[in-house]
Amino acid sequence: MSQTLEAGATARARAHSNIALVKYWGKNDAVLNTPAVGSISITLDALYTDTRVTFRAGLATDELWLNGCRHDATKASRVLDLVRYSRGATLCAIVESTNNFPTGAGLASSASGFAALAVAATGAAGLTPTARELSILARHGSGSAARSIFGGFAEMHAGSAADGLDSYAEQLLPGADWPLAILVAITAHGAKPINSTVGMGATAVSSPFYPAWLATAPTDLADMRAAIAAFDFVRVGELAEYNCLKLHALMLTTRPALIYWNAATVAVMHAVRDLRASGIAAYFTIDAGPQVKVLCLPIDASRVHAALSTVGGVLEVRQSALGPDAYRLD
Ligand code: DP6
Repeated sequence: MSQTLEAGATARARAHSNIALVKYWGKNDAVLNTPAVGSISITLDALYTDTRVTFRAGLATDELWLNGCRHDATKASRVLDLVRYSRGATLCAIVESTNNFPTGAGLASSASGFAALAVAATGAAGLTPTARELSILARHGSGSAARSIFGGFAEMHAGSAADGLDSYAEQLLPGADWPLAILVAITAHGAKPINSTVGMGATAVSSPFYPAWLATAPTDLADMRAAIAAFDFVRVGELAEYNCLKLHALMLTTRPALIYWNAATVAVMHAVRDLRASGIAAYFTIDAGPQVKVLCLPIDASRVHAALSTVGGVLEVRQSALGPDAYRLD
């Protein structure tokens, strides 16, 4: 690259959060951050992160500011190091991020955060990566972030190559091709006690179910891919709920146990099953936190919203449609 990376180079990007319908939990390589299983997700339009990256002279380290508070920048630096390497540059950067939703509480803030960082950092550095390259770059911050580069339905591939280049996400279907509604029942504010990286490391070394999780993942992925291709909502919902409960069986059998649910989380799971018994196709999924995401068809969204709002302990219900690709704001 002929031009040097100038101090003051800056760019801003937006990426949307995603929720996995077939979950990622477990790594093949902690340094490359390559998942041990593939995953399939949907990107949400209502939850997003805006991130500005500015390369500055005179900074001793990268700085990460999230919603106005300084945070540890170690993972952000992994992404920035790769960008600096491809420009032969050494300048550190200030990363300023804002989430429009609670951070670190199982709403995939790291997914939208690192996807926005990958787009903003490469933009500020004057690089023009492909979507696949952006996905790989975002993965170095957080595995789930690789999926937030893409709108609609995305599939992330597990990785085993020594260079990590076989582990990236790609779009299965744009959101506009199959409008769905997602209701997010928020049951607690505040950060979760054990983050996903630490939690999945503990699972891999202690849960007796981890080998079964790895062995059954390819079947869940193939079934979900087929259900999405057939626009079979009931099948997508049943598989998502099954895969979520399998993940939580893995978490519950980790030592010490990872219990991300609270009483309201469980109450919402029952409310969703009651909705189904009354004829409404609604299905839940839960990540490493107490919030419950409920999938339904847009025509049923207001009834599902009303039902979830009356569950004891539910603080707020947010509605979302499927979101777009990550993109540059300026
Ligand atoms: C339960 O992507 O946060 O949300 O790669 O260590 O940063 P790291 O983990 P992360 O894990 C997400 C776990 C999950 C399931 C999923 O989103 O697939």
